[in-house]
Amino acid sequence: MLEVPIIAQLERVYKKYSVKTKWYKRESFWALLDVSIQIAKGEVVALLGESGCGKSTLGRLLLNLENPEKGEIYWFGKNIKTLERKTYKFLRSKIQALFQDNYASLNPRLQIKEILLEPTLLNNRLTKKEALDRIVFVLHQVGLKEEYLNFYPHQLSGGQRQRVALARVLLTRPSLIVLDEPTSALDMTLQSQILTLLRELKEKYELSYLLITHSLPVALEMADTIVVMYLGRIVEIFKRELFKKFPHHPYTELLLQAFPDPFSEIPPHFEKVRGEPASPLNRPSGCEFHPRCAEAVDICQRETPRLRAQTTGAWVACFKR
Ligand SMILES: Nc1ncnc2c1ncn2[C@@H]1O[C@H](COP(=O)(O)OP(=O)(O)OP(=O)(O)O)[C@@H](O)[C@H]1O
Ligand SMILES: [Mg+2]
Repeated sequence: MLEVPIIAQLERVYKKYSVKTKWYKRESFWALLDVSIQIAKGEVVALLGESGCGKSTLGRLLLNLENPEKGEIYWFGKNIKTLERKTYKFLRSKIQALFQDNYASLNPRLQIKEILLEPTLLNNRLTKKEALDRIVFVLHQVGLKEEYLNFYPHQLSGGQRQRVALARVLLTRPSLIVLDEPTSALDMTLQSQILTLLRELKEKYELSYLLITHSLPVALEMADTIVVMYLGRIVEIFKRELFKKFPHHPYTELLLQAFPDPFSEIPPHFEKVRGEPASPLNRPSGCEFHPRCAEAVDICQRETPRLRAQTTGAWVACFKR
């Protein structure tokens, strides 16, 4: 079998933040704990979990926008600590990001043409005419007409702005795009249009995505691999086609249960997710999920479970699986 190259990888990464909890007091907490993840060429990995579990933090570390306390980051198989400046710059340009709030990322004073010329001229030796031709081509790829070149960001709808932001990313010829809730600011119809577009572009350009989402349906629709996070840890990794194969992590099972489609294979004994989501400032001992878990036993309060392979092929961090 052909080896598929790994585009980006985090290895046993830890990230700590601190916040002011009272005017005289700062408290630090772990936002990510012992996180390992890899994204292969052409693969879509969804990062799924509730607000505050560390999804965006993981994305920022992968983009090297922040440094981890511990752990290693690899791009194209190379530890980024060892890269020379020039190689670093080149590889970094292959890993791009698209965020939910594109309005903030598009300079309101510039026409779309100017916004798109900058990345096009930056890494390519093109004349302005060639650059514009390429921009028009890429605009068509994202479903926008040439007319929009002279528009300003505020003259576009939210969906159109997200397409411009996507065009800007594509013009840098990326290998991997970190998509941080790329459609959650859009209404349902636009959301599915953009997701469809992302899927088409992925096929056309053999892109890899790290898709950050709190929506299980979006993850199942888009991803080859689904990574479930809870309070800064990865609790499960499974291939999309395994989503109906039980067991999963108790937390994943609750997410699946909340999914609108009925699953015949869901074991019947689950209660709905109990209790409040925990805070990383007040991290439960042992398995972080145990206070909300209907199946928790003694060991869950004392020890942290490691990811283990299930007979189904999923990797689950749970003593009861
Ligand atoms: N720069 C920062 N300083 C202090 N705390 C931070 C910082 N960035 C994130 N955090 C905290 O780290 C934790 C993880 O945040 P993160 O933004 O990664 O979560 P998320 O899973 O992306 O959530 P959401 O779904 O709401 O976007 C949260 O508790 C958050 O408050
Ligand atoms: Mg986030």
